[in-house]
Amino acid sequence: MIGNQIIIKKRTGSTNTLASQYLKEKELPEGTVIRAVEQSAGRGHRGNSWESEPGKNLTFSVILYPDFLESHEQFILSKMVSLALYDYLDPLLKAVRIKWPNDIYVNNDKIAGILIENSLLGSSLDYSILGIGVNVNQTIFTSDAPNPTSLKIVTGIETDLDRALNDLCKCLNSRYLQVVNRDTASINQDYLSRLYRFNDFYLYKTGAQLFTAKITGLDPYGAIILETETGEIRQFRFGELEYVI
Ligand code: BTN
Repeated sequence: MIGNQIIIKKRTGSTNTLASQYLKEKELPEGTVIRAVEQSAGRGHRGNSWESEPGKNLTFSVILYPDFLESHEQFILSKMVSLALYDYLDPLLKAVRIKWPNDIYVNNDKIAGILIENSLLGSSLDYSILGIGVNVNQTIFTSDAPNPTSLKIVTGIETDLDRALNDLCKCLNSRYLQVVNRDTASINQDYLSRLYRFNDFYLYKTGAQLFTAKITGLDPYGAIILETETGEIRQFRFGELEYVI
């Protein structure tokens, strides 16, 4: 059960880094959550940092052992965590969307980020560290992150962090059960139907090239598939495609 055991640290650099250090020392029970009240060196995608005002947000990592997954199937974990965040946030906020590959948006602003770090054993997954940052009660952001928002900004309401973590763990647990039960069809269908800018034409950028296209799906490994206005099918891996405005 995700969240049966919660380790709370007052201050650490990054809960993902701490989780991987713990795992080098001993095997923690599956579903262990490591949460930091203050994360002094939170890590985001592609070397970015993750801003979180101490005591205001959820910054935590979950340890899983999805050894039934082959390495080429690992994108399902991104989908399942994105969906769990959607399941938790959408009833509170509406207008929640998953921006490929795994940012959580409210309208056009980012409310949560996910950093998954997997360890492989042969061709299968050994352990997985699901790093999750949700902006909850922070209202002023000072980093150069382009469009941050939070539950408090959108609703005006202060949220109890312990309760939020508890509720979010329940959502993570039910989505992880779908992964364990190999209910890939539901995961894929739910992920696509909640995808930001799915099936509508927008402006995108790859390298220096701008083009208008619509997102039509994902390949089995998590690459995104777009169709341009002229009917050309283009496929991109993470880091190769920029959403323009
Ligand atoms: C991103 O959108 O760039 C991913 C952000 C992930 C942030 C979380 S906060 C908890 C965990 N520990 C980290 O250092 N990063 C993740």
